[in-house]
Amino acid sequence: MTKPKVFVTRRIPSPGIELISQWCDIVVHDDEVPLDQEELIRQVADKDGLVCIPSNRIDGRVLDAAPRLKVISTFSVGYDHLDVAEASRRGVFIGYTPGVLTDATADHAFALLMSAARRIVEGDRYTRAGKWTAPFPPLLGESVWGATIGIVGLGRIGRAVAARAQGFHMSVLYYDAERLPADEEKALSVEYRSLEDLLRESDYVSIHAPQSALTRHLINEERLKLMKRTAFLVNTSRGPLVDEEALAKALREQWIEGAGIDVYEEEPLATDSPLMGLDNVTLSPHLGSATRTARMRMAELTAQNLLAVLRGEPPVHWLNPEAARVRPLSSVRML
Ligand code: DGY
Repeated sequence: MTKPKVFVTRRIPSPGIELISQWCDIVVHDDEVPLDQEELIRQVADKDGLVCIPSNRIDGRVLDAAPRLKVISTFSVGYDHLDVAEASRRGVFIGYTPGVLTDATADHAFALLMSAARRIVEGDRYTRAGKWTAPFPPLLGESVWGATIGIVGLGRIGRAVAARAQGFHMSVLYYDAERLPADEEKALSVEYRSLEDLLRESDYVSIHAPQSALTRHLINEERLKLMKRTAFLVNTSRGPLVDEEALAKALREQWIEGAGIDVYEEEPLATDSPLMGLDNVTLSPHLGSATRTARMRMAELTAQNLLAVLRGEPPVHWLNPEAARVRPLSSVRML
């Protein structure tokens, strides 16, 4: 049997590449320079499998260029970069990596919250710049202990942030497109609010909703103006949920006190972004899942999802079971 051909758009950690290489002929885009869309289109022409990351746009044009493609395995839990309907229409199966990065991302959201509230990054810059020449530097922050946090999107990661917040004796409000049943709210010790009320009442607002046409610029100028002047915004979900220009204005004009941001409308963040010049925002370069453990487990799951389909089995985490209506899984078996 000929080995399946697989294209990997960015080297993923061990054991991902090793697992795939045992069974497939693989080409890896092993470069710090992001993969060009035209190169992606060239590469998929003869491939059976594709391993991609959130910065790769997998749309109808890419899928048209890949007549042999059977499986897309994304090294991410987010899938806003994939045209799922187009893939399903062609009987291309999609695997993704929920669960294994929940705690890493929740830790990072909380780290940004703490860092913004207690001005850790500003303090670091102040110390290194030799400005610490007298006691009690003028870097007062806000309390986290006992404050109110508003979680926008109470899925896996939102709930993990709620658990951390409860460790800090915070009151947890949440907004989600679907309200939970009362007994579940009680069990999680969370209270539902409309998005507007959540923004008005929270000291910290942390976003954990997926990107979609419905959530684009969910946090816009009008909504930022509802937040308390002493409040902080944290975003570790996807950049387009926040209108970045409006956020920069809110921070510059101090409608809110600060922010901790990990994801941006365009990534990597442009050096001339209006956020860059502001001291009251902590910026990290999309590090939500960046722990060794999480990335290793994501890589393993990415390989397992891919190989499962090439064996004619369902991926461990399958985004589009509807694809099997177009092409039975058993018919794609190559291993
Ligand atoms: C994801 O998995 O969607 C993350 O954004 C990648 O770190």
